[in-house]
Amino acid sequence: MLITESTDRLIAFNESRTVPVTGRRLYIESYGCQMNFSDSEIVASIMSEHDFAITPNASEADVVFINTCSIRENAEQRVRNRLKEFKNLKNLRPGLLVGVLGCMAERLKSKFLEQEQLVDLVVGPDAYRDLPRLLEEVYGGQRSVNVLLSREETYADVNPLRFAGNGISAFISIMRGCNNMCSFCVVPFTRGRERSRDTQSILEEARSLAQSGYKEITLLGQNVDSYNFSQTNEPAVNFAALLRSVAEAVPNLRVRFSTSHPKDITNEVLETIAAYPNVCKYIHLPVQSGNDRILARMNRSYTRDWYFERIDSIRSILGECAISTDIITGFCGETEAEHEDTLSLLERVKFDYAYMFQYSERPGTPAAKQFKDDVPQDQKSRRLSEIIKLQQGHSFSRLLAQTGRQQNVLVEGRSKKSAADLCGRNDGNAMVVFQAQQNIRPGETVRVNIEQCTTATLLGSLAMK
Ligand code: 5AD
Ligand code: SF4
Repeated sequence: MLITESTDRLIAFNESRTVPVTGRRLYIESYGCQMNFSDSEIVASIMSEHDFAITPNASEADVVFINTCSIRENAEQRVRNRLKEFKNLKNLRPGLLVGVLGCMAERLKSKFLEQEQLVDLVVGPDAYRDLPRLLEEVYGGQRSVNVLLSREETYADVNPLRFAGNGISAFISIMRGCNNMCSFCVVPFTRGRERSRDTQSILEEARSLAQSGYKEITLLGQNVDSYNFSQTNEPAVNFAALLRSVAEAVPNLRVRFSTSHPKDITNEVLETIAAYPNVCKYIHLPVQSGNDRILARMNRSYTRDWYFERIDSIRSILGECAISTDIITGFCGETEAEHEDTLSLLERVKFDYAYMFQYSERPGTPAAKQFKDDVPQDQKSRRLSEIIKLQQGHSFSRLLAQTGRQQNVLVEGRSKKSAADLCGRNDGNAMVVFQAQQNIRPGETVRVNIEQCTTATLLGSLAMK
């Protein structure tokens, strides 16, 4: 879809023609989930094939892309604020083009061009191959929108340009979209139908990362347990089979994955994790609520007891395994007793970590259509602080239980708090900080004696090599 240009913007376009057609600089800023950060690497790859150099400085860019998130209202608000800042930059750098990518682009479509006068380009998550052409259209004097969703696009053949990574840990997108229709969630509308990426292309990407010196990969999907790739005359590959193949293809790399769904995670997946030492014993398993009526309203397709059974299976098959979750508090109609069910679920499971949110109504979702967002703001905030307080105690005790042990730590670099310390993650994804030594380099796996902890970090010292 093309949007006709308004007069004041045309002036800016004429000025922008002074920008050379080759050697232009692109700055990309990403918000939201890991999938968005991974998509930005695909965008960077596509754009670099068209003579764009990626710059880490917005102030020297010819084109700025913001890869946006719509999951909660405050995520969108952050992007709107950032766009205001780019407006100032645009005044300083006439000819600078601003593109909005990702979920907010998909949700608001051409409305973006009406609401945000400085935006030149609006491109949804399945249309990134079209970016170079759309950008040329913009240089030609039009504001452009492509928000077509696809049933096939997986960008399987695009080799992501890891422009913002640490050279140690990389994401591999294994699927796109989501078919679950959790009633609160905007993702099925912004990222479209679920589709799985060709298994061979995933394995090739993993091998190529290993060859380039990477030490850890994370397989990404909205619901990795429903990964299913089939080709004519060949048996379908499910997530357990994919995980097995990846673990075998890169035996010296740590393998992680996210996100798992309680209704779909199978014992076959758990047994695969148990069978391969390079698959990390860490599962992110969002529960959202501890109450059956609320879970049904959320359309999560499992009950509290089902969730407990999955947790018990994880612990019986894997023994030690870190488990994290997502919680939404104050969902439509949630009573005080139902909120307490979430607290008691936290007590029963004792998660290693949790991402905790207040419910934020998203326009167009089933919940927005069917239910009233009727939990008063002060109750939502109070319930959220109760959940956070309880979880902080659990996070601390789960870390404390690891003190006195020796663990493998993949070194990422200097600690943010002290240049005399190094930091890295253990198998369970907890951050470990320990005193630096001359001969230890980022990317190495070292043995660390875990001695103390805070509510978020393990502290230790290097064990003798
Ligand atoms: N309001 C609050 N939190 C939400 N999430 C998804 N949609 C919403 C919403 N409308 C949370 C869920 C999900 C995580 C990625 O974001 O907990 O698992
Ligand atoms: Fe949203 Fe549910 Fe899909 Fe996760 S599984 S992306 S919460 S619809």
